[in-house]
Amino acid sequence: MKRVLSGMRPTGPLHLGHLHGVLNNWLRLQEEYQCFYFVADWHALTTEYENPKRIPAFARELLLEWLAVGLDPEKSVLFVQSAIKEHAELYLLFAMFTPVSWLERNPTYKDMIKELKQKDLATYGFLGYPVLQAADILIYKAEKVPVGVDQLPHLELTREIARRFNYLYGREVFPLPEPLLSEVPKVPGIDGRKMSKSFGNAIFLNDDEETVRQKIQSMVTDVQRPRKSDPGDPENRCVAFQLIKLYFSPDEQAEIVAACKAAKLGCVPCKKRLAEKVVAALRPLWERRQELENRPSLFEEIVTRGNERARDFARQTLAEAKEALFGASWY
Ligand code: TRP
Repeated sequence: MKRVLSGMRPTGPLHLGHLHGVLNNWLRLQEEYQCFYFVADWHALTTEYENPKRIPAFARELLLEWLAVGLDPEKSVLFVQSAIKEHAELYLLFAMFTPVSWLERNPTYKDMIKELKQKDLATYGFLGYPVLQAADILIYKAEKVPVGVDQLPHLELTREIARRFNYLYGREVFPLPEPLLSEVPKVPGIDGRKMSKSFGNAIFLNDDEETVRQKIQSMVTDVQRPRKSDPGDPENRCVAFQLIKLYFSPDEQAEIVAACKAAKLGCVPCKKRLAEKVVAALRPLWERRQELENRPSLFEEIVTRGNERARDFARQTLAEAKEALFGASWY
């Protein structure tokens, strides 16, 4: 089986955007590949170094939600980056031969510095972010890396680092990993902008039922349709309809569109139907999460076991890399 690796930074709770944009894809992949999914807590530290005490709780939160959505620790290796010190050692070795110019011209780097200008990101660690990411990927010799388009420059750098290592030390230790871009449905936040924790418009996976219902009821609908008796244009003017597209069958959608256009379906009952669907889809997640929260030792065991499986693999690759580099076994 080919290997897949991906990671998420623990910087906050997960919402519907993560579920539809990332996690559903990870779930599909675990049926076809040997998947390694990890919590990139050291990567979180590159931007959160002023508030690092929040990171462990967010890391736990990610793992709980991954298990709640159905990532299966028997199939996939679920682990925490900082528990596998080998990532740091490979990162250090890569740092020795990675030209600074490769890092400075990285477009993601330049964008992030601009976007997060309230934080001082002119650090050594932040510049080296993609070198650490390359170590994450290459230490598992991953062939495929599911990521969003914003991460493509990092993957390109990972390939350049792998190529340079193999060339310098004369052995094909590392494969050149490829991105796996999946179609990402657009998930609107309740205000119509992209769903995001920082916009305050997100429906979180661990919101309770009442909160989910309230948030959906407050979603923007067709503003040019103040009364039910006005015909609506859901496909072009309604934010709630973008979410409806993710939760209703094509037949149901057609029925809703027709009723809205004919001014027969009001926005309040329509969003109530939507809330019903979203709640029904989230309920199994809430239940699985509750089960895990009731059994903290089981959760600990799952994480410990995932870390061990990752470490076994990482150790072997690191030994191989050092053998290629130094040619001496006591390194
Ligand atoms: N940089 C990624 C992000 O912000 C997280 C990440 C760290 C990652 N290491 C990785 C993703 C390795 C894929 C593979 O989303």
